[in-house]
Amino acid sequence: MIDPVSTTLINGLKELGLEVVYRPGISRDEVAAILPDFDILILRGRLRIDEELLRRGEKLKIIARAGTGLDNINVAKARERGIKVISAEGASTESVAELTICLMIAAARKIASVITNVREGKWIKEVGIELFGKVLGIVGLGRIGSRVAEIAKVLGMRVIAYDVANVREKAEKLGVEIVSSLHELLRRSDVVSLHVPLKEDTYHMISRQEFEVLKRGAIIVNTARGALIDTRELLRALNEWVVYAAGLDTLENEPPKYPWEFDLIKHPRVVITAHVGAQTYEAQERIALELIEKIRRELTSLRYLT
Ligand code: MLT
Repeated sequence: MIDPVSTTLINGLKELGLEVVYRPGISRDEVAAILPDFDILILRGRLRIDEELLRRGEKLKIIARAGTGLDNINVAKARERGIKVISAEGASTESVAELTICLMIAAARKIASVITNVREGKWIKEVGIELFGKVLGIVGLGRIGSRVAEIAKVLGMRVIAYDVANVREKAEKLGVEIVSSLHELLRRSDVVSLHVPLKEDTYHMISRQEFEVLKRGAIIVNTARGALIDTRELLRALNEWVVYAAGLDTLENEPPKYPWEFDLIKHPRVVITAHVGAQTYEAQERIALELIEKIRRELTSLRYLT
């Protein structure tokens, strides 16, 4: 059965006069086999579009990412081949921000182990911590980071942020203090939340050195990309109580692959979801509508549509 959101996308594309082939769960080899026949490729985050696959897309004009992150697409190589890469950045901001706050509260109140205990018939009254009055350190004050800051302030948190871009004006409007380095943010935050894309320079940006400077007993929240954090170091920090708890929606390997990833997801002070930040009907509907409009504009500029 096709989900209602894919139906919106498919119907919208058909209204543009496009012939649509819908293949959820398609393997990389199958994509490689059929790609030479297609002008447009629409994908989510599972498939890696590397140079080899790009070479197969002889006719490709547009790659549309049904989401925000472009880390699974070799954008530079696509552009070199004259392929336009588009995405629906911004469409899932509210959904991801809401899940971030959800994981933050769940981590602070040890919800993962409380639920496990209740399901096992153990009525154990775990003691957690409040977020009120705590310092939230946001890494990356883009769309999602900013929305998380707004909600966190309503919860009574003090918000500081670190961003490589100049976000001073925005921070001032949000009432957020900008700090000059990641390490300063880590030293001062009770809760750290990551909102940056995965790139070469952000890969494992939270690793052993960062856990060494992190405020003792901090909470780590990651709804961005798993590979921003060195998983083994996070596990060590949790076991040594450097990290009080973690709220994660992403893992370096999804689904988990290595023993330390299984140890992490089973850790009693880790609350983890399956990369569902953007998985709401509202966000997916916005993504579908935004992609239809962007594809329409692109095809018009290429003179395929008038
Ligand atoms: C995104 O980048 O849009 C989100 O992480 C969700 C997804 O990967 O589909």
